[in-house]
Amino acid sequence: MQVAFVFIGLILFLMLMLKDKKILLGISGSIAAYKAVIITRLLIKAGAEVKVIITPSAKDFVTPLTLSTLSKNKVLSEIFSGDEWENHVMLGRWADLMLIAPLSCNTLAKMANGICDNLLMAVYLSATCPIVVAPAMDEDMWHHPSTKRNIHTIISYGNHVIPVDKGELASGLFGDGRMGEPENILHFLENFFNPVLPLKGKKALVTAGPTNEPLDPVRFLSNHSSGKMGIALAHELRGQGAEVKLVLGPVQQPFKMDGLNVSHVKTAEEMYDACILEFNQMDIAIMAAAVADYTPVTTESSKIKKKEDSITMEFKKTKDILKRLGEMKNKNQVVVGFALETDNEIQHAKEKLMAKKADMIILNSMKDEGAGFGGDTNKVTVFDKNGGEWRFETRSKQDVAKDIVNTIIDLYYA
Ligand code: CTP
Repeated sequence: MQVAFVFIGLILFLMLMLKDKKILLGISGSIAAYKAVIITRLLIKAGAEVKVIITPSAKDFVTPLTLSTLSKNKVLSEIFSGDEWENHVMLGRWADLMLIAPLSCNTLAKMANGICDNLLMAVYLSATCPIVVAPAMDEDMWHHPSTKRNIHTIISYGNHVIPVDKGELASGLFGDGRMGEPENILHFLENFFNPVLPLKGKKALVTAGPTNEPLDPVRFLSNHSSGKMGIALAHELRGQGAEVKLVLGPVQQPFKMDGLNVSHVKTAEEMYDACILEFNQMDIAIMAAAVADYTPVTTESSKIKKKEDSITMEFKKTKDILKRLGEMKNKNQVVVGFALETDNEIQHAKEKLMAKKADMIILNSMKDEGAGFGGDTNKVTVFDKNGGEWRFETRSKQDVAKDIVNTIIDLYYA
């Protein structure tokens, strides 16, 4: 009974995800072509519009009549029939996705080499939509070096390959090369259109940039932070599905902020208040800002005049945002800090991890070339509170953001 409900639920879910999608189904010559009949039926049931293109040799395995009846569209096979010409360019533009299932060894080789000797290949070569293929062949063919090379080649062209299954093959042997089951192929398509993002439904707070601590109406104390690392982290979290609140200090250059909810702040005090206000509803907090450690005890209301040969000002410590969030966090919240160090880097980073009760600390060593403020690259080592350590090579700040966010996902959300 329960199984039936799960199955009905799955079908309803697929129906929503593929509804009104235009799918071009290419069928090449393989015994697995009979599964293309089931794929057609499932796609139609899911509300998709399906046009089928079949290679001449696939007709030996499955009849156009069956496919045209199920797809409710004429099955296409020839570039020319009589004095009519099939517009392969428009077919590729019509589709939201082209699925070639089964993909025979022969059609794979043609795809890898751009051979255009039938309608399916003409449509493939002119298609502007994403292409997904489901290979089907005997085990020895599947493991042949030329097949492996061809698969790599078509992936390098941007095609998506549905992995083959292990099972009983047309030869009677048992092994790799069986085409995926129709239900799994539909799942792949549904996930393709609506990827399940690991941080979907999660909320993340990120701080970035410097803070400015005013000395008088025209001067302030600040640092060289560009904000690039924190903003790259905010975008990466968003890309992985999280809803992101970015608390951004006064950065010097404009950044793309699409999809981010941004609060602009100037001082450490303002950054602290903005973070405390948001933190309770957050799942993840990454403190990437270079917050001023000290702020003037008093800010002069008029410009400080150049009278004395030297002046002394009194500074007080700012509130440590990361430390406060570390104290406030519940067991489901993940708090991540940075440690920018010039010496005894690992020891200082680990001390900060403990002192601020963070779950993770990301060490930037100023000794490392390509790391730190301003530049487009960074080199980080990640430490977590359970003794884990991950070292990454110098990479662009976008790639470092991916490494950091993937580490968080692997540890807390996988
Ligand atoms: N941080 C913070 N609030 C502050 C100061 C720092 O949230 N008032 C955060 C930073 O965003 C960073 C981490 O604390 O994630 C460590 O910052 P860092 O400047 O390396 O260390 P400090 O704690 O300021 O200590 P020190 O300057 O002595 O190294």
